[in-house]
Amino acid sequence: AIDISKLRDQTGYVTLDIGYKNTGATQSAITFLDGELGVLKYRGYPIEQLASKSSFIEVAYLLIYGELPTEKQLADFQLHISRHTLVHEDMKKFFDGFPSKSHPMGQLSSLVCSLSAFYPESLKSNQSEAELDLSIIKMLGKMATIVSWIYKKSLGHPFIYPRNKYDYVTNFLHMTFGQRTEEIEIDPVIVSAMNTLLILHADHEQNCSTSTVRIVGSSESNIYASVSAGISALWGPLHGGANQAVIEMLEKIKEDGGDTDKWIKKAKDKNDTFRLMGFGHRVYKNFDPRAKIIKKACDDILEKLGIDDEVLEIAKKLEEVALKDNYFIERKLYPNVDFYSGIIYRALGFPTDMFTVLFALGRLPGWIAQWKEMKEHKEPIGRPRQIYVGKVNREYVDIKSR
Ligand code: ACO
Repeated sequence: AIDISKLRDQTGYVTLDIGYKNTGATQSAITFLDGELGVLKYRGYPIEQLASKSSFIEVAYLLIYGELPTEKQLADFQLHISRHTLVHEDMKKFFDGFPSKSHPMGQLSSLVCSLSAFYPESLKSNQSEAELDLSIIKMLGKMATIVSWIYKKSLGHPFIYPRNKYDYVTNFLHMTFGQRTEEIEIDPVIVSAMNTLLILHADHEQNCSTSTVRIVGSSESNIYASVSAGISALWGPLHGGANQAVIEMLEKIKEDGGDTDKWIKKAKDKNDTFRLMGFGHRVYKNFDPRAKIIKKACDDILEKLGIDDEVLEIAKKLEEVALKDNYFIERKLYPNVDFYSGIIYRALGFPTDMFTVLFALGRLPGWIAQWKEMKEHKEPIGRPRQIYVGKVNREYVDIKSR
């Protein structure tokens, strides 16, 4: 066996794994994922049980602190968060500065990073446990307000302040869909659907955005900067941005006459850049368990809300065709969490460009838990190596002689 310690700092011994397909970057006790069997567990609890029995805020507690809370712990957690839901009034100037049609993910990433300016105590790399906990609570509390206000800004509507009598998810929906002039009733079907979606997105071990949060945090950057970096990583269509891309794709197929076979053919064509968005996953080589739950939730919610969405039928048809097609079977490409989530978000009343921001709201407890674990493990700064393939030993040539 090779003595790894002897290889330390020696050149020449570099594992090349572009895209980290088989490289573990850490040991973690937060989320278990078996991609071959299609299993997902948070802290040992199956995702199916959490999605049907728990609330988002309870799952957030579980991910961050490792145990399901008692009734008192959950009430204290909720109360503590609700005391930190307001954002500084000066932050409104930042909202004013963005063009109203700018993408919500760009706004979210900048606004979250700017929290570090308002809470400079977060810049201390040796925060006490209590200080670190307060930064976590502030991050959770302010995120829901920022996300809702981004939506309100896109409409040109006044911001709605948080109401602490509501639980986390109801408060978020109130700030998003509520009005200043009167109290609105939030449909319990919508609250429940939102809880389910946020729970399903809450963590997914070392994905692109989570690895980003950990690696940024490993240089002792503050929590807001680390989460902001995670938001940027999530934005791309190959990651969280897929939920927006799926609906755009389904709409396009609908406008084109709904011929799913034609689009499946395009997805298989190696000369065509088109990919079936919401299909495939780096780790799941079997059904994504979250997709199974979401597909069922999608049917239930649309029925309860009395919505008939033609794109749902197109999505189901695409899935049916793809799952029988050798190209998808051989490559083990199944629907992922984002294939049906957008249809639910749309049914709840969210515009397409808000979908990825909602993913970020759901993923926040996971990012926080992973950032906290990385700190507790005192992990060294993340710094991958490379294999240099560029030119060697060249002599500088004066500009006039080139
Ligand atoms: N449509 C058509 N072909 C696909 C798709 C797809 N959605 N996904 C993968 N493939 C093909 C690739 O072309 C490749 O084929 P080849 O072996 O003939 O070259 C093979 O399947 C393997 O694909 P890779 O891109 O190498 O797999 P990787 O693990 O790097 O990528 C990813 C995974 C990014 C999720 C990919 O499946 C994809 O682009 N999916 C569509 C975007 C999407 O839905 N992203 C959301 C992921 S879930 C999340 O982040 C929340």
